[in-house]
Amino acid sequence: MASRIVLNTISYHGKGAIENIVPELTARGYKKAFVCTDPDLVKFGVASKVTDLLEAANFPYALYSDIKANPTIENVQHGVTAFQESGADCIVTIGGGSSMDTAKAIGIIITNPEFADVRSLEGVAPTKHHAVFTIAVPTTAGTAAEVTINYVITDVEKRRKFVCVDTNDIPEVAVVDPDMMSSMPRGLTAATGMDALTHAIEGYITKGHCTISDMFHLEAIRLISRHLRGAVENTDEGREGMALGQYIAGMGFSNVGLGIVHAMAHGLSALYDTPHGVACAIILPTGLEYNKHAAGDRYRAVGEAMGVEGINQMTQDEAVDATIAAVKKLSADVGIPADLKGILKEEDVQFLAESAFADACCPGNPKDTNVDEIAQLYRSLM
Ligand SMILES: NC(=O)c1ccc[n+]([C@@H]2O[C@H](COP(=O)([O-])OP(=O)(O)OC[C@H]3O[C@@H](n4cnc5c(N)ncnc54)[C@H](O)[C@@H]3O)[C@@H](O)[C@H]2O)c1
Ligand SMILES: [Fe+2]
Repeated sequence: MASRIVLNTISYHGKGAIENIVPELTARGYKKAFVCTDPDLVKFGVASKVTDLLEAANFPYALYSDIKANPTIENVQHGVTAFQESGADCIVTIGGGSSMDTAKAIGIIITNPEFADVRSLEGVAPTKHHAVFTIAVPTTAGTAAEVTINYVITDVEKRRKFVCVDTNDIPEVAVVDPDMMSSMPRGLTAATGMDALTHAIEGYITKGHCTISDMFHLEAIRLISRHLRGAVENTDEGREGMALGQYIAGMGFSNVGLGIVHAMAHGLSALYDTPHGVACAIILPTGLEYNKHAAGDRYRAVGEAMGVEGINQMTQDEAVDATIAAVKKLSADVGIPADLKGILKEEDVQFLAESAFADACCPGNPKDTNVDEIAQLYRSLM
């Protein structure tokens, strides 16, 4: 089957990249920006790194920050009303996956108002129009939502998160500036970085992988394994490496899908508000064990990209074990817990397993799965 690759039209990388935001807006003739961010980023002066540039250039903007982590249908709907009232003609979104995903949903509904209920956007939505012109500025090095064709919204009433996949939602411009990430505390850097590693590994072993996505994923694994520890220590080199590594992972997985780790992680965030990266990081080694007979022949390249010594002299089984051990070690080194004790409740396991099986990421998993096996995987982490 032919592969389809969707990427930003333009992306900027490296320190100082945010200087390109105003010129990108003015060159296209936009007049007012809808700045979509979250309340903490306003409070801690992260969003102002960008709004200061808009103000210095006398570029009008309206600020929308009614967004919680693991954003809800309500956050999107309030945002649509705020956009309509603002008189803005473009979006600048500043934040982690939560802000960028909310901005994507708002931008899609503004140009495709028949999807205003938000729920109808789940899965592959047949929208006709591209979202409002968007510049995405990530402040975490994790989700790569600035380059993906996905967004994830929480349905509070139904206690689930749902994934929307739509080529019309990709931001035209991504501005990936490591200085926007330098204020992340250690725990957030670690969790979002492990989310990025999970994207790269799940994307590399997913059923739909292709030569182009393999190229992105292996380089992303290399960069993330080399730089996550440094980023947690807030070194410049670590921040630069993670900004790039997470983006390159997004160039890959957005086009080929993920697997059971993301399918299982989504339910934990919906039920317990577990940060997405923490949920992914805890489940990743279990997901790799589960998939080792279906995709184990791909683990050697993952281990090699992670820098596992002597992996090319190992037998297949040894290479699989060494790769999983390297993932566990990186996760432990950056302080991620090893299991879901204190998070997961037995009475929720069946519901979570059913939700994970129905999740948009599940069909891409290399091993075909079922609700009972997913329930066992959750229990193995309690
Ligand atoms: N669109 C996609 O392709 C995609 C992929 C993976 C995950 N997601 C979704 O993204 C969301 C998670 O996003 P996330 O992990 O980036 O975190 P987030 O956006 O939920 O942010 C978490 C917290 O970190 C704070 N924060 C963010 N950047 C900061 C900075 N530079 N300094 C200080 N604090 C900062 C935020 O204010 C917030 O309180 C989840 O809803 C997840 O499902 C989307
Ligand atoms: Fe993720």
